[in-house]
Amino acid sequence: MSADLLTVRLRQIRLEAEGILSFEFTGADGGPLPAVQAGAHIDLHLPGRMRRSYSLCNRPGSTSWQIAVQRDDAGRGASRWLHDQARVGQHLQVTSPSNDFPLDEEAAFTLFITGGIGLTPVLPMMERLTSLGRPWRLHHAVRNRSRLAFGERLAALGGGAGAEVEVHVGHEQGARMDLAALVSAAPADAHIYVCGPNGLIDAVQAAAAPRGPAHCHAERFAAAQAAAVEGGYQIQLASDGRVLEVPPGRSILDVLLDHGVEIAYSCMQGICGSCRVGVKSGLPDHRDEWLSDDERAAGDAMMVCCSGSRSSRLVLDL
Ligand code: FES
Repeated sequence: MSADLLTVRLRQIRLEAEGILSFEFTGADGGPLPAVQAGAHIDLHLPGRMRRSYSLCNRPGSTSWQIAVQRDDAGRGASRWLHDQARVGQHLQVTSPSNDFPLDEEAAFTLFITGGIGLTPVLPMMERLTSLGRPWRLHHAVRNRSRLAFGERLAALGGGAGAEVEVHVGHEQGARMDLAALVSAAPADAHIYVCGPNGLIDAVQAAAAPRGPAHCHAERFAAAQAAAVEGGYQIQLASDGRVLEVPPGRSILDVLLDHGVEIAYSCMQGICGSCRVGVKSGLPDHRDEWLSDDERAAGDAMMVCCSGSRSSRLVLDL
């Protein structure tokens, strides 16, 4: 087991809404896990070398960790495994929690805009702000009532002082919400947190752009672009000169792992930044959400989990 992996025990599986299960973990022996900050996530290691990031949605201060997973039959298998194969009592390996979506607890006002399963990272944030007596408002979009997860927790939160919860039924992307109006209704110094489908995040970020990036925080669960798995090119490892073929249907990361190359990775969707690799020659086909436009234009680094090649060979700094 690598140093940063923990073994946890699956204590409970709960149906939270149509197609959405929550999974609660304890320590390997059933004992407590450390409390985590709102907004944190863990990476779950699953059979078949699958590794996926999930936001923790347990209550602040909890000594068990909870994630919620929406079944995605068109996905790459992690949600299907969790829905179909996971059993209470199983032991799984997870990374220690980390937090790329931290809550500013000092904000005078906080606006949350979420869609579908994007509710999960902000649930503990709202509970935390309520415990601190800070005001906040949530606008949450769901396709229909049966897809509304954690309805009881939302109802309890919405009844608190300084808290407003509005559920918009009909479209997870927020098409039933006037996002520009919701954003402009928030105080000028509000902090805005958005999580859900990419279309929702893009629209909220556009509406909030005049407030500056420090006031708008986004957590993406899915890449905006499809991964490059067309194959038909070679990669060369600069360290030992090895040349590896990337066949159709495989990513560069798949090929590197197939050949035992040690490389860090996490989301496998181009959104976490873990798998960045230097490029010594060749032309990457960037499909990630991580690199800046300037970094893409420079062409001397790429995210190998999702990006491919526009040239017949890429020489990687590996
Ligand atoms: S593994 Fe997350 S960006 Fe590649």
